[in-house]
Amino acid sequence: MQLTIENLATGYEERVISRQLDFSIPEHKITALIGANGCGKSTLLKTICRIIPPLGGDVRLGGQLLSAWDSRELARHMGILPQNPTAPGELTVEELVMFGRAPYRASFFARSSKKDRDMVQWALAETDMAEFAKRPVQELSGGQRQRAWIAMAIAQDTEILFLDEPTSFLDVAHQMEVLQLVLRLNRQHGKTIIMVIHELNEAARVADHLIAMKKGEIRYSGSPAEVFNREMLGDIFGIDAELLQDPRSGKPFCIPYPQEG
Ligand SMILES: Nc1ncnc2c1ncn2[C@@H]1O[C@H](COP(=O)(O)OP(=O)(O)OP(=O)(O)O)[C@@H](O)[C@H]1O
Ligand SMILES: [Mg+2]
Repeated sequence: MQLTIENLATGYEERVISRQLDFSIPEHKITALIGANGCGKSTLLKTICRIIPPLGGDVRLGGQLLSAWDSRELARHMGILPQNPTAPGELTVEELVMFGRAPYRASFFARSSKKDRDMVQWALAETDMAEFAKRPVQELSGGQRQRAWIAMAIAQDTEILFLDEPTSFLDVAHQMEVLQLVLRLNRQHGKTIIMVIHELNEAARVADHLIAMKKGEIRYSGSPAEVFNREMLGDIFGIDAELLQDPRSGKPFCIPYPQEG
């Protein structure tokens, strides 16, 4: 389903973060959103997912204004892994992941279906979390907890999935696993993925489409081949990057250096 952003302004009460954003999210593709700390990436994601209200403009899903969508119905189409999720109370990993199935249940107290339980087991396996299923979320390490939240997000089984820094806190092997999972969700299941990511080379390798933000504005958008270059990295991050080619994927690859002077 097409997701379009028209003349969107984001922010918090008196503080405007972005204004007049116009773009659409390519369907069935992986989009990576990059930019410096505080430039407005999470604010944009939260606004598109209806977690915070827009200050102006529209977000449309399948042509219909987001504000007009029923929230349970919306939650079957769009899911989000927030940047700093917090689990309520003493939930186990399995219980947390089962929350991802809430939009499919008749009521909060309704019993889970076989499909719900199968999806939870699938999500635990995909995130390498099956062995932690019965453990309280609060007692996990940072990276394990991050994977438990990713499991919840994918158990929701939405065609559009927003991931705000899914690889933060993860060791390099689990970073690779999560990115492989993102690729599988996209290539095998046709999911539309929008992820915020600070690992630039991983963004360039995995994403079909890159959006680079600075001070609330979208400055660059296009394929990694089109926009992942020295000029963009200098403008967006104020770094002097050396550009190479990833020998395996053929995608652009950067070595960052501080800018002179
Ligand atoms: N709840 C809030 N109320 C007021 N201002 C906020 C709130 N959350 C974030 N901001 C401000 O909005 C701006 C954009 O924040 P945002 O979280 O969107 O940045 P970000 O691009 O996701 O950064 P990071 O890479 O550090 O996660 C920042 O200046 C931040 O201080
Ligand atoms: Mg953020």
